Amino acid sequence: MSTILWLLSIPFFSLIACEPSPPIRGYLINCGSNNDIKQDGITYKKDEGYTASGKLATLNRFDILPVLTTLRYFPYGPGKHCYELPVTTGGKFLVRTTYFYGGFDGGNEPPIFDQIIDGTVWSTVNTTDDYKNGLSSYYEIVVTANDGTLSVCLACNKNTKSPASPFISSLEVIDLDSSLYNSTDFGKYGLITVIRSNFASDGDLVRYPDDAFNRYWQPFIDGNPTVESHANVTSSEFWNRPPEKVFLSGSTTSRGKNLTIHWPPFSLPANRYYVALYFQDNRNTSPYSWRLFTVFIDGEVFYQDLNVTTKGVTVYGTEWPLSGETEITLIPRSDMPVGPTINAGEIFQILPLSGTTFGGDVMVMQILKQSLKNPPDDWNGDPCLPKEHPWFGIGCSEGVQVRVTSLNLRGLSLTGTLPKEIARLTALKELRLSTNKLTGPIPDLSPLKALEIIHLDENEFEGPFPDALATLPNLRELLLNKNRLSGGPPQNLIDRKGIIIRT
Ligand SMILES: *[C@@H]1O[C@H](CO)[C@@H](O)[C@H](O)[C@H]1NC(C)=O
Ligand SMILES: *[C@@H]1O[C@H](CO)[C@@H](O)[C@H](O)[C@H]1NC(C)=O
Ligand SMILES: *[C@@H]1O[C@H](CO)[C@@H](O)[C@H](O)[C@H]1NC(C)=O
Ligand SMILES: *[C@@H]1O[C@H](CO)[C@@H](O)[C@H](O)[C@H]1NC(C)=O
Ligand SMILES: *[C@@H]1O[C@H](CO)[C@@H](O)[C@H](O)[C@H]1NC(C)=O
Repeated sequence: MSTILWLLSIPFFSLIACEPSPPIRGYLINCGSNNDIKQDGITYKKDEGYTASGKLATLNRFDILPVLTTLRYFPYGPGKHCYELPVTTGGKFLVRTTYFYGGFDGGNEPPIFDQIIDGTVWSTVNTTDDYKNGLSSYYEIVVTANDGTLSVCLACNKNTKSPASPFISSLEVIDLDSSLYNSTDFGKYGLITVIRSNFASDGDLVRYPDDAFNRYWQPFIDGNPTVESHANVTSSEFWNRPPEKVFLSGSTTSRGKNLTIHWPPFSLPANRYYVALYFQDNRNTSPYSWRLFTVFIDGEVFYQDLNVTTKGVTVYGTEWPLSGETEITLIPRSDMPVGPTINAGEIFQILPLSGTTFGGDVMVMQILKQSLKNPPDDWNGDPCLPKEHPWFGIGCSEGVQVRVTSLNLRGLSLTGTLPKEIARLTALKELRLSTNKLTGPIPDLSPLKALEIIHLDENEFEGPFPDALATLPNLRELLLNKNRLSGGPPQNLIDRKGIIIRT
């Protein structure tokens, strides 16, 4: 739906940059590779250390961009598989995932699967059409980090045909300045890129180093007359920091005429979108180099009497409803000696975020993961969310605050210990860990007032019998048999009615 195509035939840029440009801040990852590579002046790092699962594949082709020649895949199965990246809490990021199937699994149809950002299903990855046309595909989203880790995960969905494996070719997580797209409430929403265009251009994609954040501005040309700019704009004067290069060309019409642009060149599903348009009067700077026009989208006034000068200007709509074909019309004020003009535009789909698991529970689950020597291999990303893809064996509550309510890890040959911090999972109702090889003492679980079921039987727990369990008000089942505990249940536990105890 919001796939944007990235042509494989994009030539290698000869980036003989005159001025050194500041490096991109963030993670540029060449998935499935053992080596760092340099492409278009950017170093893409190998992905070791950013993900704990998956396998590497190499495509033996020489006609594709270097970053596409390797990929990481996650063999078919339940659970999500994540890249986890340390980030600054509250930071804003452009996340771009790139996919090129290349028949890595010996098949000829790319697998279909979900991609997930933190606790939210971001979109389905369906590269079927692009692959058929010899193209790679990329997806982009702008999000903020609500804690010190950003996770980007892949998971099978109902359309993933066994044994097809979700895969990824490259992952970019680029720090954006806080002013970018800042009219959006990123605590609640992410912005999925639908299109980002450089009007009146049939040249190359504009990207890094022209765009400091390596956003891709695709050339867009239609039948309208084009003009070249005679004045420079200053990118930093715009909150969204559009690259100066996209102002070099503009679409226009002659004096007195309306300018109509059918953009984007595809139909949009009915939704609310963030729309930003960028304009500049292309003439030499002078007191008379300005023009006034009204911007309409689908016949609605988007901005009345916009005064466009040689310094350039942007207008945006934060939640603009669009559906189907979109038409942008610029209508000049009747006394204007020149026609209207437009240089660039961006449209993002607004994605409501599903939130994340309660932070305290996330922390405990991380501690538990570390104290188990062999935790399930899908234990990464958010423990409970998205709902469709929680960690294996974890049950969670719904609602505004998502809590861990059950652990069901029976018979997994788990080794390691149960950390004392588990006593902070205060929404826990069921703790089922029977038939593993857990060692060490049973931590004090008495703060877990919601606990109804405790199955710790058939392990190697040692130490004194956990007497404090007798105080749990809701306890219905307590299985502790076949461990190495000393002592037996206290009298008040033996005397309790309506409780199954095996010790
Ligand atoms: C994937 O895309 C192809 C081509 O657009 C389409 O025919 C197919 O139905 C899509 N599959 C799913 C599961 O959406
Ligand atoms: C967006 O950023 C600009 C520049 O830092 C600032 O002036 C403006 O107030 C911000 N707008 C919002 C809605 O935060
Ligand atoms: C625009 O910027 C370029 C590169 O910095 C410079 O060569 C050119 O003279 C500038 N043009 C104007 C009109 O200032
Ligand atoms: C421009 O559009 C307006 C509003 O649709 C219309 O009234 C006007 O006639 C148009 N001008 C021209 C020259 O087509
Ligand atoms: C548009 O802006 C220019 C430059 O600031 C100014 O000289 C001109 O009067 C403005 N036009 C209108 C109609 O406000």
